[in-house]
Parts: sequence; structure tokens; C-alpha cells
Amino acid sequence: MNYADIAQSWYPLATSQSLKPGTSVQVEAFGRRLVLFRTRQRQLGLMQRNCVHMGGDLSQGAVTDTGIRCPIHSWEFSTTGQITGNARSDTGKAKSPCQTAIVCQEANGVIHGYFGDSPAFDLPTAPTPVLTSSVYTSDVPMRYDIPTIFGFDTEHFETVHKRGVDSLTVYQNHKVHLGARVHASVNGRRFGDRIMRALGMRSIELDTDFWAANILFGQHRQTNTFVFISGMPVSEHLTRVYASVMQERPSGGVVKQLIGRLRFAMARPVIRAFISQDENALSGVRFDPESPYILYDSAIYQWLDHYKTLPRLSDWRAEEK
Ligand code: FES
Ligand SMILES: [Fe+2]
Repeated sequence: MNYADIAQSWYPLATSQSLKPGTSVQVEAFGRRLVLFRTRQRQLGLMQRNCVHMGGDLSQGAVTDTGIRCPIHSWEFSTTGQITGNARSDTGKAKSPCQTAIVCQEANGVIHGYFGDSPAFDLPTAPTPVLTSSVYTSDVPMRYDIPTIFGFDTEHFETVHKRGVDSLTVYQNHKVHLGARVHASVNGRRFGDRIMRALGMRSIELDTDFWAANILFGQHRQTNTFVFISGMPVSEHLTRVYASVMQERPSGGVVKQLIGRLRFAMARPVIRAFISQDENALSGVRFDPESPYILYDSAIYQWLDHYKTLPRLSDWRAEEK
């Protein structure tokens, strides 16, 4: 796979739950062999897997209170790749070797690494204390940027999701961000659609924020439900999708809290069903942004113009390992 044209961004590597303190996992990302670990003091580290000294496999070593220790000669590295213990410097040649580290961040139940120059944005999160669902992952046969492209395709709301778009306003507040506020009516005949209408939700108001080309943060404004989706290219036409759902943490008396928890329990399957409509429809899509046949709405043009300006991995001057 040629990674040069991939946008610089945070890319999901593992769920928070899968990485306990004091453990590590092997990660392959953009042709790099990496190790992701969580120290016993809970800091995250992501670095080149083979030790800078003589190539030991750090993922076979021990994760310590504040770093990771190579299994071969016990050099120990901090989460930023600095040597913190046991380096022999008596030859004078290897005084301050440093393991190449990549910045990582945890949000919405998922751990991401930033592939690119220094991070252009923080991962989006909900503004209030929230309940976070378990993370749903799936491998979808599509390019990693297809969900963002189709996020601005109003016609698919109608055909795939059975939502009539009443209005869509595109807004931009950052060079790698484009968002849209959508008002849509719930037209479908699916069970979930009927339930929504029965509950009086005939129209929905949605904010969808797209970051770089692989991150979506959505907010269903009526229920203050948030959805976070990020995608990792496994190969050119295969993407590992991570999705989680957040809702404001219920407060108040026992009954209020119980209703809040129940509402939260209902949100995840509804959103998962919505996402799987996209997964089914977008599986196997081959999209050509230069095609002369992209004829319909202006939103998709705005996205494509914006998309062309995103910094790419080919502009990233990081040392290749
Ligand atoms: S190979 Fe890692 S310390 Fe020597
Ligand atoms: Fe969709």
C-alpha cells in the first residue's frame, strides 16, 4: 500500500480496555512495526518496536512503572523514548540514543497515535461528564476516507438511511475540520424509525464534525447523544472502524438515574444499527474524487475542496524505520 496520500491525523490503534497497565501490544501502522504500551503508572507509550541499541523486540520486554525495558540488554525507555536506565555509555558512541516515539492520546474508549507532524488538533470529546459505551470495532472493505466523503453526501441520507434532509449547513472552524449541521426527517419504515416516530421524534437535528479524513464526532442534539468514529487503514481498501457512543452522565435521584441509564442502554444499539447501514452500503465502494459525474449537492463539493488541502503523510518528515 502506498501511504503517501493518507491524511496526517490521529489513527486508532487499540481500545482502552484492551491495554491494561503494565502491558504492551504489537501494532503495525503505515508500514511501521510499533509497540504500544501502558506503564504501571498508566501513561501511554508508542514507539518503534525494535530497540535502537541492537534491535531487541521491545514488545517482548517488561513494561515498568514509567516505561518499557528491552529484553536483550535491559535498556529502559520512557514513554517519549528517552533512555532512563541501564544504558552503557562508556564507549562514548551511544551516549544519548533515543527510541523514535509517536504521540498517543486516549479518548472515547480508544487509543490513537498521531501520524504526522505535531498534532494539528486534539481528539474531539463530549463537553460534559459522560457515560461511554464499550467500543464497537469492525473491518469494512472500503478506503479509510470513504465515511467522511459520504458524510457530506446528502442523497445517501435519503436512500441509505431513509432520512429526508431538510437542511444542511457546512461550517469550518479549523484547517483540518469541516462540520455540518443537519436537520432531517425520520421517514423510514424500519423498526427503529417507527419507534423514533412513536416517541415523537419525527425530525432529528445532528451535528457532524469531521476531522482530517478519518474521524467523525457526531452529536444528536435532542438527546445529547454523542458518537465517535475513527478509522485505521489496514490496507488500501480495508479499514478498521472503531465506534463508541457517549451520553451525558445522569444525575439526580435514583429514578432519574435509572431512566438515564436505560436511555443510554437504548442509544448504543440504535446508533450501531445506523452505522451498519453505512457499513453495508459503503462496503466495496470505489470512489473517484475526480469523476465528472459527481453532480448533485454542494456539500460534497465543499468537502472535496477541503479534502484536497489536508496535509498528507508524504509531507511528514519523520524518520522511516
Ligand atoms: S538490543 Fe535493546 S538493550 Fe540491547
Ligand atoms: Fe451514512
